[in-house]
Amino acid sequence: MNPTLHPVTEAPLRFWHRDAVVERHHVPPDRTLLDLLREDLRLTATKEGCAAGDCGACTVVVAETVNGLLQYRAVNSCIKPAQSIDGLALWTAADLARPDGTLHPVQQAMVECHGSQCGFCTPGFVMSLFALYQHTVAQGQTVDSHRAHEALSGNLCRCTGYRPIVQAACSLQADAAQAVDEQPIVAALQQLAATEKTGSNYLRPSTLSALLQARAQHPQAQL
Ligand code: FES
Ligand code: FES
Repeated sequence: MNPTLHPVTEAPLRFWHRDAVVERHHVPPDRTLLDLLREDLRLTATKEGCAAGDCGACTVVVAETVNGLLQYRAVNSCIKPAQSIDGLALWTAADLARPDGTLHPVQQAMVECHGSQCGFCTPGFVMSLFALYQHTVAQGQTVDSHRAHEALSGNLCRCTGYRPIVQAACSLQADAAQAVDEQPIVAALQQLAATEKTGSNYLRPSTLSALLQARAQHPQAQL
């Protein structure tokens, strides 16, 4: 690897995962989240399909704090820079079932509706369903077909067909025992946000003027 093209960022990457803050050093700014998970952390529940952001097999869920609450998002890890989850919480398909093996409602619904055949796309579908669950069912809302189609629009399945998967989405029921305990996660993320981070080669400007300023300071940087 050419260090000029792939400079290692000195500031550690930090994110919340499985009840703890994960800290990784020397993560290059162009390392994808999928490669970080599968190759660096050996978390292989997340699959690689197209590696181009088209199929959704690599979907994971990230959450950030907004006004003291967690806001969840399903994202394609194959096109997401690992550094972009700094300060966020992360869930993969291996993080949903309880330690005693009890499936999460989205996994149980997929089983009951026969939403999987070869299974390669399934971890991605399950994660899109998990984000949908957090946005709706966990808030006391139901999922209709329109909402289900929207939530699953980034996931492709070549063998099961979509009807049983949409059916699984529409059958989701809240399970209080499986609720995300948000308080410690929010506290951990707020603590991360309060810690100053310097020395990163990965910049995340949040306004147009900050972007233009960063662009002027680093004209060679890859956008
Ligand atoms: S592997 Fe296909 S979208 Fe990521
Ligand atoms: S179950 Fe085989 S690709 Fe979806």
